Amino acid sequence: MAVTIISPNRDLAPWISVLNDQARNLGIRDLDLRVWPDDGPKADIEMALTWAHPPGVLNDYPNLKCISSMGAGVDHLVSDPDLPRGVPVVRLVDAHLIRDMTEYILLAVLSHFRRFDVYQANQWAKRWQPQTPMEKKECPVGIMGLGQLGTAAALRLIREGFPVSGWRNMNGGLPGVTAFHGQDQLPEFLGRSRILICLLPLTPATRHILNLTQFAHLPSGAYLINVGRGGHLKEEDLIPAIDKGLLSGACLDVFEAEPLPGNHPFWAHPRIRVTPHVSSQTDPESVAPQILENLERLRSGKPLLNPVNKARGY
Ligand code: GLV
Repeated sequence: MAVTIISPNRDLAPWISVLNDQARNLGIRDLDLRVWPDDGPKADIEMALTWAHPPGVLNDYPNLKCISSMGAGVDHLVSDPDLPRGVPVVRLVDAHLIRDMTEYILLAVLSHFRRFDVYQANQWAKRWQPQTPMEKKECPVGIMGLGQLGTAAALRLIREGFPVSGWRNMNGGLPGVTAFHGQDQLPEFLGRSRILICLLPLTPATRHILNLTQFAHLPSGAYLINVGRGGHLKEEDLIPAIDKGLLSGACLDVFEAEPLPGNHPFWAHPRIRVTPHVSSQTDPESVAPQILENLERLRSGKPLLNPVNKARGY
């Protein structure tokens, strides 16, 4: 079965070697892995593995039966107006992705909670200035998006002793998490989020959901952690929100334009921490089994793992 990998900006050598090795070990002898754009006759291709594909190219494959994201997110796929209609889309759900994201969030939460951001600035100024410790109960965390990643982060933060609430599109709770849903409950949710974490999927409804109007509902001096997508944050609102004291700072892993342009004001801002979209990176070794499992399922007509609702966008 021919599979093409369409990911113009990534080193694909590890993916190819891991997928071929694991297929061999599983006794799958006919895996025919190709790399776009030199992927031979388009009619051979039955599955596409993609990350940031050029919009429209997926229509070139008349026998395509499945499109798999190479990550947890699928905004890069569902935002393509020319995505082939009848072809199912799947995403990756992976223990390593979940573990790494949880770790990054914990690090960002604890660095803020233990005032490492303040101490870093004080070190540069050679200022020895202990801060009054915060209590965890004074530092409730609000998580926007309670999917696989948001749920794992919520449970971990609860274990660390933080009060946690969650906001999602649909109704539905999680033990120990104060639940909010829908636009009506957003202000109340924000009002109790001393640390706000965005893990939403990016859809037309969530684009620019992190903006000055919403920041005004937060307790003053709240801290923002964005590990969703750059498009969630209305970037021009962040520094004004910090200047007004609505936010005390932010830790950002995702940006509207990536790589973040050299002249972007976030780079040099003392209260903004920038990381280069590394909170949770796909490990080919770890995700190859589910990709191969979906190939087998395609062959035998079984339901695919981790299907995406294209209309909903996640
Ligand atoms: C990374 O951003 C992913 O969606 O896996």
